[in-house]
Amino acid sequence: MASAEEASALVQRLSQLSTDLTAAERENLKFLLSMAAGGVLSGHAQKISEGLRESALGTAQHSLPKLLAGAREKFPTGIVFYGRGPFLSDEDLAALDQESRGCRPRAERFLDHYVVSGAPVAREISLSPTIQEFLTENVGSITPTRRANYLYYDEPGLGIDPHVDKDEFSLNILTMLEHRASNQGRSELILHPPDQEAVHLHLKAGESLVFFADSVTHQRTRTVADEEIRLVSFGYRTLGGTHE
Ligand SMILES: [Fe+2]
Repeated sequence: MASAEEASALVQRLSQLSTDLTAAERENLKFLLSMAAGGVLSGHAQKISEGLRESALGTAQHSLPKLLAGAREKFPTGIVFYGRGPFLSDEDLAALDQESRGCRPRAERFLDHYVVSGAPVAREISLSPTIQEFLTENVGSITPTRRANYLYYDEPGLGIDPHVDKDEFSLNILTMLEHRASNQGRSELILHPPDQEAVHLHLKAGESLVFFADSVTHQRTRTVADEEIRLVSFGYRTLGGTHE
């Protein structure tokens, strides 16, 4: 079994190693670590001893933020903002809600939920100066990736297992457009920051979560009968990180 000291030393060595990697190699290393964290959290490593599983999870969770820009250190849970975002007007939310409803028939299944990418209103709002100013004030320089997805969890059993997102959604603004609850329970968004209790979030319509989706493992638990969730997700990259 790996001791806590060995695991901590490994985190340091992975962090040092990453300074010598190209951007593409670093993306690969991030991907491997995220798969490892997601796999352990999803219960895919049951044959491995609990101590080793915990050590592997801790190493992956601690290493991911170290491979990324320095701004993340100010946000130990990965959460930059949670609540009704001052960066979206009521008109923005109404336009997003309307476009999301209209796009549902052409949503495509991705893993265990439905997605529409690049709808024009969502893309335009994701590029708004108000959002860019808010993000720059809070995390430093960012660049929009022009990635805007409508997400639908509107059948029983939809959800997404623990994962971290790709570079296009390094910094993610996730906004709830509608959460129609069921009397049989409700799905929730859970973040798994290292060495801390999992953070359980229930976004209300109009509320946003701004978080480092590429360094904090997160999931949406499964929907139940009569539950319906529509979200919109905007992607950004942070600039000026320690390795850029
Ligand atoms: Fe995600």
